Amino acid sequence: MNNFRAYRIFDEGGKSQGRFVELTLDDLDPGDVLIRTAYSGVNYKDALAATGAGKVIRRFPCVGGVDVAGVVEESSDIRFKAGDEVLVTGYDMGVAHDGGFAEYVRVPADWVVPLPQGLSLFDAMALGTAGFTAALAIHRLEQNELTPDSGKVIVTGATGGVSGLAIQMLAQLGYHVVALTGKEHEGAYLESLGAREILLRSAVDLNSTRPLEKAQWAGALDAVGGATLAWLTRSMQQDGVIASFGNAGGAELNTSVFPFILRGVKLLGVDSAATKMPLRKMIWQRLANDLRPLHLHDMIRCVPLADLAQVFPAMIAGQSRGRTVVEIAAG
Ligand SMILES: NC(=O)c1ccc[n+]([C@@H]2O[C@H](COP(=O)([O-])OP(=O)(O)OC[C@H]3O[C@@H](n4cnc5c(N)ncnc54)[C@H](OP(=O)(O)O)[C@@H]3O)[C@@H](O)[C@H]2O)c1
Repeated sequence: MNNFRAYRIFDEGGKSQGRFVELTLDDLDPGDVLIRTAYSGVNYKDALAATGAGKVIRRFPCVGGVDVAGVVEESSDIRFKAGDEVLVTGYDMGVAHDGGFAEYVRVPADWVVPLPQGLSLFDAMALGTAGFTAALAIHRLEQNELTPDSGKVIVTGATGGVSGLAIQMLAQLGYHVVALTGKEHEGAYLESLGAREILLRSAVDLNSTRPLEKAQWAGALDAVGGATLAWLTRSMQQDGVIASFGNAGGAELNTSVFPFILRGVKLLGVDSAATKMPLRKMIWQRLANDLRPLHLHDMIRCVPLADLAQVFPAMIAGQSRGRTVVEIAAG
């Protein structure tokens, strides 16, 4: 087989730096299933890995891309055969195992999810880790008794990939969604996704030192962390439940025990990458059915693999909107 293109990340003087290289199949990490990539997608973690803005790479050099959707080229595992449409998200992809920013990806069969009926390979990467994380977070909130009748649900980092998808899913399920954003000019976009209220970050006193604020939210999905997550803990209703999945604004969490012991607030962690296969498959089934965003394509832009590196700086600066799908060998 001929050489193929890949976006590989190197350690250059202690800093991660990505660039295009030509690889052969012998260069790829071992695995049972060889996938011909149709699409990948860009997640915040990919931007951290490729630019070195965050220390997420655990093995150099490594082909970037935490997500891939494509067609099985060959498999030594009986669960998969040539021609099957499949997807892989998370695990070590793009950080300690060669990932999706390449024309071929080889992975352990235990990581591979058959493409759910009703989703195309493009849809799978329009959702990607972002959609999977949004759905997993909603699933966890529901398991903790959140329903549309409980009250308002706030989504932070609202214009981001995970959060935009979460807003659509929650709105379709009948929740009253409040979008918290730093971007004054994106109100119409957030309303088009289904947000009923827009709250600007500048209008919120995130750094107040009160142990508790006015109780406002029955549920919260947090992409931001830091002062935003601390403020959420202080402003939840009685028995409110928060799903924490991101740190786009900070990794620290300075709060007190009062939200937990006086209001019964629950703080749930969401880790998409390590989700076990039975739950993973169930969440993908929901993504193809009741959680499938009806306006998915309205929040997607598509770039060819060659333009991949242009996507990262805006994402690191918190300036991107929606999801970016990377077209690799579609069709
Ligand atoms: N736990 C998991 O399994 C998992 C999975 C996927 C992603 N994540 C994490 O979730 C977060 C979002 O990921 P993503 O792929 O959706 O990224 P994204 O598309 O870049 O969205 C991040 C959003 O956060 C907001 N933001 C950025 N910088 C900020 C700052 N300094 N202060 C406050 N808000 C800021 C911005 O929205 P506004 O301008 O609208 O506020 C931005 O659009 C990241 O931290 C990512 O690492 C975790």
